[in-house]
Amino acid sequence: MPSPVFSSRELSLDNLDSIFSLLRHELGNPLNSLKITLEVLTQNYQHFDDEKRLAFLQRALEQVGRQHKFLDAMKTYYRSNIFDIRPVPLSAVWNAFVHQSRMKVLEKQIDFKQTLEDPELWGLVDGAAFNRVLEMVFDNAVDAVENTDGACIEAFAGRSNGHMKVSVTDNGCGVEPDYLHKVFTPLYTTKEEGTGLGLSVCQRLMDKMNGWIEFSSRPAQGTEVVLWAPLAGKEMVPKIDALHPEPCESESAEPDEAGADGP
Ligand SMILES: Nc1ncnc2c1ncn2[C@@H]1O[C@H](COP(=O)(O)OP(=O)(O)O)[C@@H](O)[C@H]1O
Ligand SMILES: [Mg+2]
Repeated sequence: MPSPVFSSRELSLDNLDSIFSLLRHELGNPLNSLKITLEVLTQNYQHFDDEKRLAFLQRALEQVGRQHKFLDAMKTYYRSNIFDIRPVPLSAVWNAFVHQSRMKVLEKQIDFKQTLEDPELWGLVDGAAFNRVLEMVFDNAVDAVENTDGACIEAFAGRSNGHMKVSVTDNGCGVEPDYLHKVFTPLYTTKEEGTGLGLSVCQRLMDKMNGWIEFSSRPAQGTEVVLWAPLAGKEMVPKIDALHPEPCESESAEPDEAGADGP
């Protein structure tokens, strides 16, 4: 039976309700605590000794720190810009991603499998932004399999329906169908240390690259996140000669490696 899918294309202004409610919670709670802390300190200033005053001031600073952390996370969201959309060889993005991912699972009991189906594909994306999206999706998969026996994450890259298709599948905790529509909402998180900005930034970046994300999940079974992005047309892809105009002497002595240079 297929898993319920939520596409980032289905986001609507209804989500503003949850965003405002989360904002009120995230900024309102520490602000309230700060107010109470300062009120108690002011009312009892004469009776408190230096040690107690210092403790109250430190508590107030911690509460300001929480608001700061939250505002920093918001900055990450609106600064997630796309600078440079152009033909990018999928193999280059993939190699960087696989290397980073292997480092991340090195000390963990996670089996990481990856398939690059077509190393000749070129996407029309911002390479750095696409890599950031992949990293954030992978980090979520790592979090999701934290308590899974036989934890496994599989990544796939290839072509489907005239698009570049990149997927990350895990066999972790999954998401209840009732919460599926929330995963792209800014600030929605189920993690103690989460910001709830990973997938919303991913959605924003993919949208700017004329792509989108599909998120399908089953509780206690796992999650598949699929990134769809435009392919670069053949006419857009630089010729090999243009990429390597004049091989230097030492390189020209080496035999060509098949598939290393893209199409
Ligand atoms: N692979 C996954 N498996 C299970 N739940 C996930 C997965 N990816 C995302 N989620 C859910 O979506 C929420 C939002 O994710 P994200 O925006 O990256 O924020 P964060 O990772 O900071 O919580 C997560 O807190 C989690 O509940
Ligand atoms: Mg995340």
